[in-house]
Amino acid sequence: MPEYDSLADLYDLEYGHDYDLPFWLALAEREGDSLVEWGAGSGRLAIPLAEADLSVTAVEVSEGMVERGRAKSSTVEWVRGNMCRVELEKRYDLAICAFNSFLCLLSLDDALTFLHNARKHLAPGGLLGIEVSAFGPEEVRDESSLGLRHDFTRDLPRGRLERFSVSRYDTASQVMAIQLFYETYGRQGNLESKRQHKLAIRVVGRSELELMLRLAGFEVEAIYGGFEGEPFTAGSDHLVALARRR
Ligand SMILES: C[S@@+](CC[C@H](N)C(=O)[O-])C[C@H]1O[C@@H](n2cnc3c(N)ncnc32)[C@H](O)[C@@H]1O
Repeated sequence: MPEYDSLADLYDLEYGHDYDLPFWLALAEREGDSLVEWGAGSGRLAIPLAEADLSVTAVEVSEGMVERGRAKSSTVEWVRGNMCRVELEKRYDLAICAFNSFLCLLSLDDALTFLHNARKHLAPGGLLGIEVSAFGPEEVRDESSLGLRHDFTRDLPRGRLERFSVSRYDTASQVMAIQLFYETYGRQGNLESKRQHKLAIRVVGRSELELMLRLAGFEVEAIYGGFEGEPFTAGSDHLVALARRR
């Protein structure tokens, strides 16, 4: 079962941010009006992009996420599939793989297979944008000793949701195993439910990403450290790569 299936009901509550949307919108306006989002989740970006009159295909491996996305909007063409292998009929001006979907590919082979597939789906001269978290040295220490972290509190119609997590990083494989703990509380502060979930991501740095893009037939046009086009530095929270199909 795809990792995100059992998180689909919580995803929109957890990640409602849209600070990255203007960046992708501006890029779409520059590059043309057909766009594919790889690993689109429940449409956090795909839906507003489609509502801005772009023709958007959203590829997502989790059925739960796709169902959520379809229920929210019919403006997106949803495709349930693995972004490493799926074959779409269209070719796109712009492809995006945002908010760590690329890090869900846990091996170099999967990452490269995906990049080759993404290239195949771009029109000649089309652009691929990838955005991943940039991790600080304290987050990628072996067997990270950061312990239990309180990630956030979210208000619910009848109470609140708390999320905690423990992450463990393995320097040899670059894989970060994340254990998520969810607790929901009623209006009176009474604990109503608890659930746990495991996720894994493979941390990728700037040079590895650039090299992979080159190997897969892209010309890296820009590397940014955020959504204002700022330079990528040791203190950046984001790593954004824009790569043109050669
Ligand atoms: C952190 S979420 C990001 C979702 C979305 N891009 C966003 O910005 O909100 C990562 C998503 O990538 C999806 N995903 C992971 N591996 C995938 C694969 N091989 N093919 C398609 N989707 C994948 C997950 O199911 C999940 O919905």
